[in-house]
Amino acid sequence: MENIIEISNLTKIYSELKAVDDLSFNVKEGEILGLLGPNGSGKSTTMNCLLSLIKYNEGTIKIFGKKMSPDSYDIKAKIGVVFQDVAVFEELSVYDNIDYFCGLYIKDKKTRAEYVEDAIKLVGLEDYKKFYPKKLSGGLLRRLNIACGIAHKPKLILLDEPTVAVDPQSRNNILDGIKKLRDEGATIIYTTHYMEEVEILCDRVIIIDKGKLLASGTTDELKKLARIEEKITIEVGKVDEKYIDIIKSWDSVEKVSLNANLLVITYSEGKNNLGNIMDYLNKEKIKYNKVYSERPTLNDVFLELTGKELRD
Ligand SMILES: Nc1ncnc2c1ncn2[C@@H]1O[C@H](COP(=O)(O)OP(=O)(O)OP(=O)(O)O)[C@@H](O)[C@H]1O
Ligand SMILES: [Mg+2]
Repeated sequence: MENIIEISNLTKIYSELKAVDDLSFNVKEGEILGLLGPNGSGKSTTMNCLLSLIKYNEGTIKIFGKKMSPDSYDIKAKIGVVFQDVAVFEELSVYDNIDYFCGLYIKDKKTRAEYVEDAIKLVGLEDYKKFYPKKLSGGLLRRLNIACGIAHKPKLILLDEPTVAVDPQSRNNILDGIKKLRDEGATIIYTTHYMEEVEILCDRVIIIDKGKLLASGTTDELKKLARIEEKITIEVGKVDEKYIDIIKSWDSVEKVSLNANLLVITYSEGKNNLGNIMDYLNKEKIKYNKVYSERPTLNDVFLELTGKELRD
């Protein structure tokens, strides 16, 4: 597959602060790449460098095989951007906002009318075409923001946390819409804090922190990296430290923690762990209530790599 974006050794320094630090990654044609990182890790700065909206200190950026620069208008016309901060015109209706942004690239009126309707459908704003932004809830405004960014059917779409403050049902609609854009041939970079979105949506993920690349791969590859096969959580009463130490010493156990009444055991191997721990608790007469076994999530991977929770 062809690389639509090639970023090599990108560094961006704001006075003293290295917001992006020697970052390199590629985006392949037709994929949805998840850009994952905590607040202030450099996601938006990377997007802004990609778009040549800000100058960077080092590195090269190629898009569609050509060097990207502030006056690469031919490249820019093929990119759709949904910025983190909503940017729409207060004095234009929903329809006219989308029509305006689409009109920057699509001059033919008939085609444009079709594209605007497609965008409205994609984000589910059919009932709000005549509304003005002030009358829209936060979630609807976000949906309008997305429609404005993608109405001209760009080949490459950059979405910077597009579903913040969107209710779960609209979020699912939006995610389906984004998949549809990919299925129609767009290449997408998707920035988010919501790991479940990344798991549902992204073909590949890169994790950054403090402007540096920590890991990249499919969600399955990243989960392998975190060396966690299974996580078992048990609601317990009082447990003596000596039992915790014994559990810790088992070969397949990676980590054990006891917080309040939750005993959490992570395993690096996944064979019969649940049965073994139940047998052990029963044998030692340790009382327990609920027990759940889970596959690791991207949050566990993130925690393992950075020592931090991804969500704030
Ligand atoms: N214009 C600016 N001037 C100075 N520092 C900046 C500027 N923009 C961003 N920064 C700093 O650069 C770092 C990276 O910021 P950036 O907005 O790229 O992070 P982010 O990953 O998008 O965070 P968030 O999840 O909060 O959107 C942060 O420490 C931020 O404070
Ligand atoms: Mg940001």
